[in-house]
Amino acid sequence: MLDPKLLDQIIDVAAKAAYKSSLLKGKGDKNAADQAAVDAMRNELNNMNIYGKVVIGEGEMDEAPMLYIGEILGKTKEPKIDIAVDPLDGTKLAANNQPNAISVISISEEGQLLQAPDTYMDKISVGPNLPENIVDLDEDIKKNIVNLAKAKNKNVKDIRICMLDRDRHKHFIDGAKSLGSKLKLISDGDVAGSIFSALKNSDVDMYVGIGGAPEGVLAASAIKCLGGQFQARLKIEDDDEVTRAKKLGITDFKKKYFLNDIVKGDVIFCSSGVTDGELVSGIKIDDNKYHSETFALHYSQKFFKKVKKTYDI
Ligand code: FBP
Repeated sequence: MLDPKLLDQIIDVAAKAAYKSSLLKGKGDKNAADQAAVDAMRNELNNMNIYGKVVIGEGEMDEAPMLYIGEILGKTKEPKIDIAVDPLDGTKLAANNQPNAISVISISEEGQLLQAPDTYMDKISVGPNLPENIVDLDEDIKKNIVNLAKAKNKNVKDIRICMLDRDRHKHFIDGAKSLGSKLKLISDGDVAGSIFSALKNSDVDMYVGIGGAPEGVLAASAIKCLGGQFQARLKIEDDDEVTRAKKLGITDFKKKYFLNDIVKGDVIFCSSGVTDGELVSGIKIDDNKYHSETFALHYSQKFFKKVKKTYDI
């Protein structure tokens, strides 16, 4: 089990990354906004009393980014923690000062998070209190909608499906429309997109589609804490991706992952708003202080809350 005291520190990691990135919002430079978040996360994690290993990061060691997969962070030899980060999910959203840019991190005990390569991933998620596998990654979208509507005692017309607004999702869009179901198409940021499907009082019933694999592991961390369901499969499409996946110990490229294959044990998940969004508010600055809002979750502690904090600049 992860020490509950880690939660507050991980909230600070996400909030500080969000703050640094927010200073660059609307400046049209997505790489700079990302780098600011990366630097802040790395600094904060390096100051913690952990032996942290990045398992989902900004890339591989030979690409020489900071927060590379395998990078060791922290000041001590214990506790051994695996770290998954997306310092800025929605780099374009932040660069254009649009809603829903967030800084995201999740941690587990050593070896408990799937080490996914930086490829695409096919994903589907729904919320809590539903029969197991009520939707299936390999099932037709219409069948999934019908099954979900039955289980939720809703009309298919009242089911809303969230996905990235991409041409590759045309068959999902057409299938949903043919049943009269509702859509929520997002331009970017599918960590939040997937989480919407598992939130109480959310108008999203299901998330589907292809997005980043690192984002999938992060979303799965949150969905585990929220009691929802998540299934996924890596999309390994060329030799380079085969090499990347093999490096991380993945040999079965067709494997269908269920939530507990992706997040095996206890997990802490935090995402702080960079810009205002539906999940959390963005950073607000006044005088010498900034205010953050973080969606903070700890699986074993059954903790899920939006936490507001104020920091000195
Ligand atoms: P970045 O923040 O790295 O730009 O990613 C944004 C994002 O929308 C992710 O949330 C999502 O998983 C991925 O891009 C989808 O990739 P693509 O834009 O290639 O469809």
